[in-house]
Amino acid sequence: MITPLYANHPNPDNVDWKYSSKEEYLAVEKTLTDDVVFFEPFLVEDFFPKEMFDELVEILTSYKLDNVDFSHQMNKWEEGVQIPQKFIDYAVEKVKVLVGVEDVEFGYHMYAHHQITSEGRVPRLPLHIDHAPGPYMVDLHIGGNRDWGFVAGNTNFITKPNQAIICQPQFDYHYRPSWSNDDPAEYYQALFFHLINKNHWCVPNESPTQSRPKEINDRFKFGKLFRESEEFNNFAMQRRYMFDKLYLDEHAKIGLPPIPWSEIPTAADADIHQRKGVSPLSDLDKDK
Ligand SMILES: [Fe+2]
Repeated sequence: MITPLYANHPNPDNVDWKYSSKEEYLAVEKTLTDDVVFFEPFLVEDFFPKEMFDELVEILTSYKLDNVDFSHQMNKWEEGVQIPQKFIDYAVEKVKVLVGVEDVEFGYHMYAHHQITSEGRVPRLPLHIDHAPGPYMVDLHIGGNRDWGFVAGNTNFITKPNQAIICQPQFDYHYRPSWSNDDPAEYYQALFFHLINKNHWCVPNESPTQSRPKEINDRFKFGKLFRESEEFNNFAMQRRYMFDKLYLDEHAKIGLPPIPWSEIPTAADADIHQRKGVSPLSDLDKDK
């Protein structure tokens, strides 16, 4: 797997700097990669002890979907539904051990329920690299009644409940194969822990917990809005421009599930972003 970093580019002297200058690109890349440990995505069995996992499932699945934010980008109910701190602490400590890095902190978590909606919206996850904070992520399978692969880098992971994929969504290309079923009763649930490092770009310049070099802090305005800055956007576009073809060439050789090119969110989906009050199609059927 080629991690999309300039140092890994096979032809670094002939890069077309179409969206960003080389100097600006490397400066932003450095803010994303400093202190980060890189590894191939991997699967973990029994992420939580059984009693903890059962308790977690109970909490997450007790939320009524109508009260959970629905994302029009990925057609899934997705919200940081409240969970006790012990689950977060356990996940952070476990990832430190699994990855072999001490500098891991909690960023945020998201519970996701995937199912066809009453409006016929079908779950999807197009090929991308995250703009969301995430040098490390735990993708924990919570439940459901079907498989749904998660391709991270060069591996298609098919998981069972309480198995987790540990990956680096800021650096690993990832997508899910097409949902490819119109059965409204099918669903798939996951919980994501997005973990950061102490000098991650989402930590504001003025935060006492960060220790970035002064020249880096003087150059960029860090914090949640950093990803909306021109520098970050130029970097993100340049990165896809430099590495998409390399990823697709590798992808074609390995025989992974097809990339769902036709399942890209529209501009209108991006505008709506998230809303509440969406119901699954099968719930409506039950009420009839
Ligand atoms: Fe992602």
